[in-house]
Amino acid sequence: MNQYAAMNRMELQAEYDRLQEAYRAFQARGLKLDMSRGRPGADQLDISTDILDVKEYIAPNGFDCRNYGMPHGVHELAEIFAQMMEVPVDTVVLGGASSLNMMFDKVADAMVHGVGGGAPWLLQGGIKFLCPAPGYDRHFAICEYFNIEMITIPMTESGPDMDMVERLVSADEKIKGIWCVPKYSNPQGITYSDETVRRFATLKPAAKDFRIFWDNAYCVHHISDTPDRLLPLYDECLKNGTEDMVIMYASTSKITLPGAGVAAMATSPKNQAWDRKRTGTQRVCPDKMNMMRHLAYLKDFDGLMAKMADHARLLRPKFDALCTKLEAEFGGSGLLHWHRPNGGYFVSVDTLPGCAKRVVELCAQGGVKLTGAGATYPYKKDPQDTNIRLAPTGIGMPELTEATELFCICVKLASAERVLAE
Ligand SMILES: Cc1ncc(COP(=O)(O)O)c(C=O)c1O
Repeated sequence: MNQYAAMNRMELQAEYDRLQEAYRAFQARGLKLDMSRGRPGADQLDISTDILDVKEYIAPNGFDCRNYGMPHGVHELAEIFAQMMEVPVDTVVLGGASSLNMMFDKVADAMVHGVGGGAPWLLQGGIKFLCPAPGYDRHFAICEYFNIEMITIPMTESGPDMDMVERLVSADEKIKGIWCVPKYSNPQGITYSDETVRRFATLKPAAKDFRIFWDNAYCVHHISDTPDRLLPLYDECLKNGTEDMVIMYASTSKITLPGAGVAAMATSPKNQAWDRKRTGTQRVCPDKMNMMRHLAYLKDFDGLMAKMADHARLLRPKFDALCTKLEAEFGGSGLLHWHRPNGGYFVSVDTLPGCAKRVVELCAQGGVKLTGAGATYPYKKDPQDTNIRLAPTGIGMPELTEATELFCICVKLASAERVLAE
């Protein structure tokens, strides 16, 4: 039983009145804070501003990157991505500045031209994607954009519910894909277990043109001294001859500068040949100048990890402050549940059923914008209305302290309202 359900009506009413007063006092402060997206803070951006001073444009192979040419980009940067994504370097395909853009292009291509010799998804009609949830809202937005039906897969502490994934993909050839954020998942910060990864590598989809979209956006984004370890999926797929089934993604968006980094995909030779048909048509060559900036600035994988340690030093106090406050306010109360992540950009919380929308609304009226309730589910429909994604990274420490305080009051207010109404 939660703390409020255990109170008698008079006690709970008194608590509610006290919370209302605290809430009004917050409203009077006129806060204007935004915790809705996983953005690096200004102090993190300062880490990478020097990249703008890099004027290196002769690639290690002697190519002058100011000109057209080198359609596959700068090989030495692909080597850094290979270490980061834990894949063989010949699987890496460098892209533009956004991995989300690469995912979108891949789905668009599949809709129009099909996958691996199969009919275009658009012509097959009625296609579906599996969507582990809570998940990344922009993955779900791609499905909505292309009218792809989404099937919610519950997340467990070791990743998506694999019994359900296996059952569905092997039975329904209209299921063409699954979105995965396998390390420090957005929003829960969960890393898939070895068993989950092995089960992905041995999936037996009914559809020959089924693909796992393995979005490893947070592969090196540790905030703890005891980082999570993700079993490399590509190696497991090679052991099982299933390497054509997976397409992996990552970018330097939260390593250097978001929206101005370099993105990459890692996938099998067959899938690369399919990709080249499009990229060879849609552009002459990628932005090699940006690749050279990144190579000269990061130097190698060790250089990249040194930058990640700088980010972690700035991020850790924010995650500590948020989680410590949640523990102090809600530990053992039964009013709120959360997972303390070892990396990534979010803390995902679950309120009492039916309270998440109300909490987000109260926070907004108190001056703190959170990610919309429901956004972490397909069609923005959280069946229990419990999940809220908190993004503590983009604001400074004093602001985060204020925002967290307000958030705690709002969770208690919404919970008290709920219990009083029962
Ligand atoms: C899981 C996930 N994938 C992709 C992205 C976007 O990456 P990019 O900037 O490379 O498009 C984000 C950004 O928050 C993310 O959380």
